[in-house]
Amino acid sequence: MPTTIRISLILVWLAATTFAQTNPDGTADTGDLHGGQKLSNTESPEAVAKRLQWWSDARFGMFIHWGLYAQDGCFWKGKDGQSEHMMLKLQIPIAEYAKIADDFNPVKFNADEWVRIAKSAGMKYLILTAKHHDGFAMFESPSDDYNIVKRTPFKRDPVKELAAACHKQGLKFGVYYSYGRDWHDPDVPTDVKADGFRRSNTWDFPDEDKKDFAKYFERKVKPQVRELLTQYGPIDVLWFDTPEKNTAAQSRELLDLIRKLQPDCVVNSRLGYHLGDYTVEEQTIPADGNPLPWESCMTLNGHWGYKKDDFNWKPTSELVRNLVDIASKGGNFLLNVGPTGEGVIPAPSIERLHEVGDWMKINGEAIYGTTASPFKKFDWGRCTKKVTADGTTFYLHVFDWPKDRKIFVPGLTNKIDSAALLSVYPKKPLKTIPTSEGTTILVPEAAPDKISSTLVLKIKGPVTIRN
Ligand code: GLC
Repeated sequence: MPTTIRISLILVWLAATTFAQTNPDGTADTGDLHGGQKLSNTESPEAVAKRLQWWSDARFGMFIHWGLYAQDGCFWKGKDGQSEHMMLKLQIPIAEYAKIADDFNPVKFNADEWVRIAKSAGMKYLILTAKHHDGFAMFESPSDDYNIVKRTPFKRDPVKELAAACHKQGLKFGVYYSYGRDWHDPDVPTDVKADGFRRSNTWDFPDEDKKDFAKYFERKVKPQVRELLTQYGPIDVLWFDTPEKNTAAQSRELLDLIRKLQPDCVVNSRLGYHLGDYTVEEQTIPADGNPLPWESCMTLNGHWGYKKDDFNWKPTSELVRNLVDIASKGGNFLLNVGPTGEGVIPAPSIERLHEVGDWMKINGEAIYGTTASPFKKFDWGRCTKKVTADGTTFYLHVFDWPKDRKIFVPGLTNKIDSAALLSVYPKKPLKTIPTSEGTTILVPEAAPDKISSTLVLKIKGPVTIRN
């Protein structure tokens, strides 16, 4: 092969691998890790870790999907819109969809109350959909009138009120921003997906070839990101979604803008091109976690936005165990609520969050500020870890309480300085039996907690684990 052709082929391959915008199956590249690629930050790992410190310690946050689709619980004119993607699913013309705004008046919205609910669950941060795929801004946007303050009888700014409530109550506050999808803007194309459909507005704007992402980027994305970062004090997280037709240069420019306006703002990897501070999993927990900072976002029922006929609420036990599982793999859990068109978080969500909070009040020490388990999998539960100047603490989260009253930790052969149940006061030491294969802890007959009971093992000095 002539050298020039070979070089061209290599360049094409490089461009395709470096700037691929879709996965081979046609789904959007979420910007997460794939094929072992690393986040392509130009900063040192120490600088990223410093920015992420509060976030890594927090471990548990609230996601809030709230927008016009919530008005009638993802139904429109009696038709089932399926989800917060209602505008796309029912191909609702902009002129019609915008009419929802005329009646959108969530008078029961109370930012302090929402933050109290998150706090009572033990959550440490909150992320609100400032703009979802429908393109409607849930904040006052001077650059674009299609926003809650300008277009609804409500006239209030939820981002402003929630930012203030979070700052007052000591929670971190972040915003979700739909980057690669905007069904209100004429210039946002998407690829044809594996199911044969695009995710762009092809009913109001059928000619995809005329769409120019750069125009949308300059007209809407950049101004709105700037507004979000300048109107509300600290924005602790910028949670992007659906990077697709944006270029690497655009994502980089956005990151530079964020770093200039709010250098401490944590950014997720859905900015695209493996940029950002941490990677995102959706509705899943990877079997082996991820060595990079990562977060798993999940719904409380089957939907992100309020869906009035979805009563399929996850049990509290599943929520708590997911939190433990994620923490044991070094990740954060971002658990979603979908408030109604009146501005109310559904009662079944609140109930479950309170129950998670009851568990966290006792066991939070074993979640906050912990790092991933160094052990191979246990058949009885999970482990989280804390290392301090005094030594190492292992928190053993026991899901299945043993009938024979023995918890075995394979690979742990160090001298155990103390072992106790976290929930029992005053602390009663538990007997530990060391062997060359690991350590057995003798526990009382009854599980202290039906969902997950925590044992605390303290070890002075360095720990070696024989996995
Ligand atoms: C899914 C949904 C989208 C939601 C997102 C959260 O991709 O389609 O509506 O905002 O999950 O990660």
